[in-house]
Amino acid sequence: MSRGLVVAAGVFLVVGSAAHADDAAVIAQGKALVEDKCARCHAIGLDDASLHEKAPPFRDVVEIYPSENLAEALAEGIVSGHPDMPVFKFEPPQIEAFLGYLNSLSKGP
Ligand code: HEC
Repeated sequence: MSRGLVVAAGVFLVVGSAAHADDAAVIAQGKALVEDKCARCHAIGLDDASLHEKAPPFRDVVEIYPSENLAEALAEGIVSGHPDMPVFKFEPPQIEAFLGYLNSLSKGP
């Protein structure tokens, strides 16, 4: 009866190692993460517009940067050399969730 997806946002904060979570749960975690930290500037969906005029929509970011490069950048803290974007440092489970979400964008309809 209950759907696994629905709980994903709730467990986001307590999931220490999401390595074995199924894709849908990982993607939902990633979505919650970017909604919380990135959406005020970046477009995070398939057809929305970035709120910050210079911030690239994530669906474009995933086309430009291979996931492996992004994972490394996230672990070290994204420093993209522009003043508007704060520096983020992600923990490995957050990186996995974020990349899972990004990859879900690139598969697109
Ligand atoms: C305060 C606004 C703001 C927030 C919040 C923000 N960004 Fe950005 N981000 C930008 C802007 C503006 C750019 C484009 C900068 C440029 O190209 O000069 C950018 C660019 C990027 C790029 C491309 C970097 C590059 O070198 O081309 C990535 C990846 C990125 N952001 C990831 C993220 C992630 C992940 C988050 C959330 C954890 C986030 N951003 C949150 C403003 C923001």
